[in-house]
Amino acid sequence: MTHLLTLPTLLLALAACVASTTVSAHGDVTPQAVDTTGLPALGKEWRAENPFRANEPAVKIGTSAYNQNCARCHGLEAISGGIAPDLRKLDNECATQKDAAKKAACVKEIDEFFLTTVRQGRTRNGAVYMPPFEGVMNQEAIWAIKAYLETRRDKPL
Ligand code: HEC
Repeated sequence: MTHLLTLPTLLLALAACVASTTVSAHGDVTPQAVDTTGLPALGKEWRAENPFRANEPAVKIGTSAYNQNCARCHGLEAISGGIAPDLRKLDNECATQKDAAKKAACVKEIDEFFLTTVRQGRTRNGAVYMPPFEGVMNQEAIWAIKAYLETRRDKPL
């Protein structure tokens, strides 16, 4: 008799368990949309360079967008735990550049590299190391994340 009574409870518990496993597995890989209300609209054309450098509202939005979409792999506050590259070091090579024009060119090159990587993600030998974010985040959100990362630089420019 006790068995008959506990069976539905057991099934419910099992169902809840399966559901939560599914939710967390997907929650870990599904990129999150980012609300960029308040930032200047950048239009459809992708910019070659970050239009939001040192833009305070962009840094703020970029901080939460980073936490939602990037931190689980690249680490909280951009401090990598080792599973993905440390994004504070992204433009380290530009910091040591003395020539102002060369430094500016270096920063722009890193911007392009950053944009391409975030839009396309990273797949190697069929394995997704990083999901693509194009179509999930608009370019305002992507540049806002870059603006945030620029406040976390390992070697300030
Ligand atoms: C599922 C884990 C994961 C998520 C989420 C993720 N990344 Fe990555 N990312 C990686 C890995 C792993 C690499 C290195 C890939 C490789 O070795 O080819 C990488 C590489 C990069 C690179 C190139 C770094 C370099 O030095 O080569 C950039 C830039 C980058 N990610 C930015 C981001 C941003 C911004 C976000 C959030 C919008 C993000 N990533 C979300 C795992 C992730």
